[in-house]
Amino acid sequence: MERRKEEILRTHNFRFACKEFDSTKKVLEEDLKFILEVGRLSPSSFGFEPWKFLVIEKEELKEKLLPITWGIQRQMPTLSRLVIILARKKKDMIYSSDYIKYMVEDIHNIHGDLADMRIERYRKFQEEDFKLLDMDRIIFDWAIMQTYIALGNMVTAAAEIGIDSCPIEGFHREKLEELLEKEGIIDREQFGVSCMVAFGYRKENPKRSKTRKPIEEVVEWIR
Ligand SMILES: Cc1cc2nc3c(=O)[nH]c(=O)nc-3n(C[C@H](O)[C@H](O)[C@H](O)COP(=O)(O)O)c2cc1C
Repeated sequence: MERRKEEILRTHNFRFACKEFDSTKKVLEEDLKFILEVGRLSPSSFGFEPWKFLVIEKEELKEKLLPITWGIQRQMPTLSRLVIILARKKKDMIYSSDYIKYMVEDIHNIHGDLADMRIERYRKFQEEDFKLLDMDRIIFDWAIMQTYIALGNMVTAAAEIGIDSCPIEGFHREKLEELLEKEGIIDREQFGVSCMVAFGYRKENPKRSKTRKPIEEVVEWIR
């Protein structure tokens, strides 16, 4: 067990936000599929999986992304795989939507009174506990929060198999969504962009070691 813990910590120290990849090394499709599978298996509130992962393979689209994605300027020429993580909007995430009914009945296999009870619990959670329905932006941001769990799991899984990554939030969300809509890739009523993640193999090791606050500043034990 101690060895396993050491290995896990080694993985987390190995992972860093890679700025420049080795353009001669490609991430195999089967490795990307493994990373995406880890994303799919990630936990989400009520198990409603408010995400979608777009694997961007079209070179012309990558070129169109560049002017509106300031955070990926250094990575774009050398990255091997690019994934855009979408989050579902109110149309799907509200308790009364067809999407929630589909998730409860077809995916979770809950029917009849049990399904009604689950959706009622979800309604109260949205309306009363977390007040997610006051503004459209709140429920979208709540969906985005959950996509970051998948993001975290994917970059860790990639590091486990020696693949480097960089999460990307450096983009103009509205312009990016407009572009994806114009390209016929998303329906903006249903989806918005959460973040992106680049995968590849590092060109070189990071120049400095990890900068993190000491554990005592981050953790408070209430005893
Ligand atoms: C949600 C998120 C968005 C990020 N966006 C960018 C980005 O647009 N461009 C970039 O180069 N790095 C980006 N980063 C990388 C962070 O700057 C980096 O993770 C942080 O400085 C800690 O360094 P480390 O990941 O190397 O340990 C992002 C990280 C996260 C988690």
